[in-house]
Amino acid sequence: MKHAQKLDHLAPYLFAQIDELIEKKQRQGKKLWILSKSDPDRPTNPGMVETLREQAVEPANHHYPDFDGLKQLRQAAAAWYRHYYDVTLDPETEILPLLGSKEGIAHLSEALLDPGDIALVPDPAFPTYKTGTLLAGATPFTMPLTAPDFLPRFDNIPQETARAAKLMFLNYPHNPSGATVDLAFWQKAFDFAEENDIVLVNDHAYAMTAFRPGIAPSLLMVPESKKRCLEFFTFSKAFHMAGWRLGLAVGNAEVIRALKIIETHINAGIFNPIQYAGALALRQGLRPGFFQRDNREYQRRLTLLSGFFNSYGWDLAVPEATVYLWVPAPQGMDGDTFTHFLLDKAEVVVSPGSGFGEEGKGYVRICVTYPTEVVEGAIEAMTKAFSAYRITPQPSRYTA
Ligand SMILES: Cc1ncc(COP(=O)(O)O)c(C=O)c1O
Repeated sequence: MKHAQKLDHLAPYLFAQIDELIEKKQRQGKKLWILSKSDPDRPTNPGMVETLREQAVEPANHHYPDFDGLKQLRQAAAAWYRHYYDVTLDPETEILPLLGSKEGIAHLSEALLDPGDIALVPDPAFPTYKTGTLLAGATPFTMPLTAPDFLPRFDNIPQETARAAKLMFLNYPHNPSGATVDLAFWQKAFDFAEENDIVLVNDHAYAMTAFRPGIAPSLLMVPESKKRCLEFFTFSKAFHMAGWRLGLAVGNAEVIRALKIIETHINAGIFNPIQYAGALALRQGLRPGFFQRDNREYQRRLTLLSGFFNSYGWDLAVPEATVYLWVPAPQGMDGDTFTHFLLDKAEVVVSPGSGFGEEGKGYVRICVTYPTEVVEGAIEAMTKAFSAYRITPQPSRYTA
């Protein structure tokens, strides 16, 4: 059977590969310390589960849902943006519920790009910006993000590429480095997008996973940004709803309209009970301190892990946001060999940085959405392996 040529451009999906490795080890009877996938360890709030249960028995919800998404959810999203960012959004035209933000991100490229078009894509990054671009037949132009700030250098993008580009993906707080930006950065990115007539996107997946006030501003806080900007939000992380599949796209009405055209052709809406639960989540999330418990726990786990690496000579700062520690591989290894070393010698599962792009090759990503006992168990196992194999950081690139 012949498949589409575009599949040849896609590397195997990183997390599917890691799942296979985990399965293989587990079949051999190994107990693993898994720190690879960012899927919150705590369950979804009982209130959301109860809403789902109540709504699921309503026959009205057994029909095809509305393409526009549930009005209550769109209204709750507008209230959310008003509360957290002082941004006004029209729930009719500027908010679109999605079957997960990953799906929406991939479909945005279908909506905005034709074969031969260019999208500016950060590297390292969540893989879907690049793969969505490739599936649309367009060309990703890589913006390397390097230590210590992991910011794109707009001046390094050739002028003709900038002029030709139609779309730019950014993601702050950043998976995998944990880097954050301030509003001045968003203003600069917006000015660049304006100058070059580019649709600018922030994937705000870690909007609420930030450990200090003011470090995860919305791109839409930039005055006039709705002229050409879009932001994605996911319920997966902040509300422990990864399995529910719910996200939002918010911002420029024309871009939302284009994305909705693709969604209507490919999807048939989102089960209403899930959207009711999402609306409740957004309302609950307005309460002061709602995200504090999770964030304290994530920060504690990140502090434990960075402390471990620093005790072996690394110089890692504790990230101020996200659930990731982005760790340069030790001397004599790259990210892939370090991943295999950790798996074989410590039974610890991390993600090789190469899965996030070329710039990630020297790194591994360690994720702390696992119970603290797992993080502590992994540290104990790594301590034995590091001591036995005399692991030391690369002298030339041991800061992150
Ligand atoms: C930056 C980023 N965007 C999007 C997603 C996907 O979120 P969702 O579960 O809404 O598809 C993830 C998941 O890890 C992510 O890290």
